[in-house]
Amino acid sequence: MDKRLFVAINFPEEVKVRLAECTDQLRDCASRGNFTAPGNLHLTLAFIGQTDREEDIIGVLDDTVGSPFELTLSKFGKFAHGRGDIYWIGVAQSPALSAMQADITKRFRSAGINIEERVFRPHITLGREVVAQEPKIQAPQATFTVSHIELMQSLREEGRLVYKPLHTKVF
Ligand code: 2AM
Repeated sequence: MDKRLFVAINFPEEVKVRLAECTDQLRDCASRGNFTAPGNLHLTLAFIGQTDREEDIIGVLDDTVGSPFELTLSKFGKFAHGRGDIYWIGVAQSPALSAMQADITKRFRSAGINIEERVFRPHITLGREVVAQEPKIQAPQATFTVSHIELMQSLREEGRLVYKPLHTKVF
């Protein structure tokens, strides 16, 4: 059966709490928007989309090699869209993150698994289709270790968007 899949970095609980505070601040200064539930905050490494190749994808993730690395939250920013903007928190430049994303992308392509080819702009989405007057939100000061990545399924449960971890690759 097809599932909508992506590979993500999920955060330590204390980082999620700090990011969720930013979502709350954004909501407070927006006239409308679709805001990320605290449990759904993540950073996408590779977006796969609808696929029936879950087992192959897990194989690719398990073959990936890497070491734990540090990530630091950086700035609050937005991608402008006609219908409303996407607001996010970015991460500081990380050669280890870029290398991991490039490696996974290459491995998926070699395995014939189609993934989104957009330029990688690592971000943690706080809200989509947001209408707000120049919100000024301070990104939290936080550095944390990334020691695992996860295969995630995006699905709707009782009308709610849920991201469910299906497999964890530990480095
Ligand atoms: P977004 O937060 O910028 O919307 C689950 O939907 C995750 O996959 C989100 O992090 C989302 O990014 C990302 N995603 C959805 N569609 C995508 C696409 N076509 N290309 C890249 N990432 C995508």
